[in-house]
Amino acid sequence: KNINPTIIVIFGGTGDLAKRKLFPAFQNLYLDGRMSKKFQIIALGRAEKSDDEFRSYVLENLETFSRKKGLSDPETQKFLSHITYHSLDIDKEESYQSLNDKINDIDETFGERANRLFYLSITPSFITTISNNINKIGLAANAKQDRIIIEKPFGYDKTSAIALNEMLSQTFKEEQIYRIDHYLGKETVQNILAFRFGNSMFEPLWSRNFIDFVQITVAEEVGVEERGGFYEGVGALKDMIQNHLLQILCMTAMEAPASLEADDIRNRKADVLKSIRRIKPDEVDHYVVRGQYDAGFIKGNPVHGYRQDKGIAPDSNTETYVAMKIYLDNWRWQGIPFYLRTGKRMEEKQSSIIIQFKPVPHSAFSYGKQGMTPNRLIINIQPAMDIKLQFMTKKPGLSLSLRPAEMVFDYFACSTMSPEAYETLIADALAGDPTLFMRWDQVEQAWDAIDTIQQVWKTTAPTNFPNYKAGSWGPEEADELLARQGHAWIQNS
Ligand code: BG6
Repeated sequence: KNINPTIIVIFGGTGDLAKRKLFPAFQNLYLDGRMSKKFQIIALGRAEKSDDEFRSYVLENLETFSRKKGLSDPETQKFLSHITYHSLDIDKEESYQSLNDKINDIDETFGERANRLFYLSITPSFITTISNNINKIGLAANAKQDRIIIEKPFGYDKTSAIALNEMLSQTFKEEQIYRIDHYLGKETVQNILAFRFGNSMFEPLWSRNFIDFVQITVAEEVGVEERGGFYEGVGALKDMIQNHLLQILCMTAMEAPASLEADDIRNRKADVLKSIRRIKPDEVDHYVVRGQYDAGFIKGNPVHGYRQDKGIAPDSNTETYVAMKIYLDNWRWQGIPFYLRTGKRMEEKQSSIIIQFKPVPHSAFSYGKQGMTPNRLIINIQPAMDIKLQFMTKKPGLSLSLRPAEMVFDYFACSTMSPEAYETLIADALAGDPTLFMRWDQVEQAWDAIDTIQQVWKTTAPTNFPNYKAGSWGPEEADELLARQGHAWIQNS
């Protein structure tokens, strides 16, 4: 992809995301020759710092967080020379004025007006102030050259998301706004498209006619770590389901796009979000389970409960786990349950999609249908990155009895180190390709699909929190959710 000269401005340049993900992503793109010859990163922060101080801070963090490390690499030293630190007070117009001067100086040394990429890696409450100031100074006045990346959560419900979008649209056109969902940059998530639409043999089976149900799991071992303050007001429904899991659902359930053009793909995804059956307030308990972790053990190590974590209220009702059953009201998927679950402090880190096919209509084997494992297609997103097809085979031996077997495609076996999600997404944003970013209508539909749940949860406090042990697979109610339909969660380790 063609990347033009660009000045990248990172709001929150001294923050956690910048040090863990953004600088490593830029460094790797640079080392892979993916940055323009002319580029400059301006990291913004509140404190006064010299460029040298800031560069050594970045270098130290690259050593910890970058997949290519940094300290001894001369190319990384060159990369660092493209980084400048600039102290900015988010509320003060003068600060933006001096940022403007800096940007103009860089343009002058480049000998041309470079593209501008504003990366908002800050708490959402600052977005309005920043956007208004960018507007006042005219920092992003060129709609063809200037872009803004916004981290999730985009608003906290549908109404606030609409307000935020309207506010942003006073400064930016839709094609300038890159709403990031880093799951869409993951290799294995992108591979779903390749798998589904690059092969003819799976697609005819991909519907209510042959599929019994679908399970999407994003389980994490980590708790809320240092992010308690942020997480308390958010919870798993908004942190994970509204974005990452619904996006994986879209990739799994969408119709084939007419082309790989950004809007063709995004139209098909938006269709899935629109077709999610909206539930009524009195149905929430029937379709959705919330959970919060108690103390327990992760891989044998004791960890405390959510309410004892740093920055968490001792009587917090924030959910750290959600399981839900979704129906899609469209031709392809009518009547097929999609089970989604995500949680922190689960037994192991595991993100996967499991497609379970319908059982054989009749089994001639002595143990009948019950003794047979249904065919399954398992797409492992992380940490395993593979696709498994499970089917029945004959057990070697004299009698004709069966056992399950599997064919495996392992992503690692045939690729060198794959890029991190943020590398892919930043490269796309630099090149002006919005395919893997969320268009406004997708965000709005995703909020619409979960708003009722959050409204009900806000008004009815859970009576049983904490209701799952750290290191388990979540609350019992999540098992009951599936058992009602004769199904069970498939543990795929
Ligand atoms: C983020 C959430 O979007 O995704 C975090 O805010 C979560 O709470 C993280 O831990 C998970 O991302 P990954 O790439 O580690 O699966």
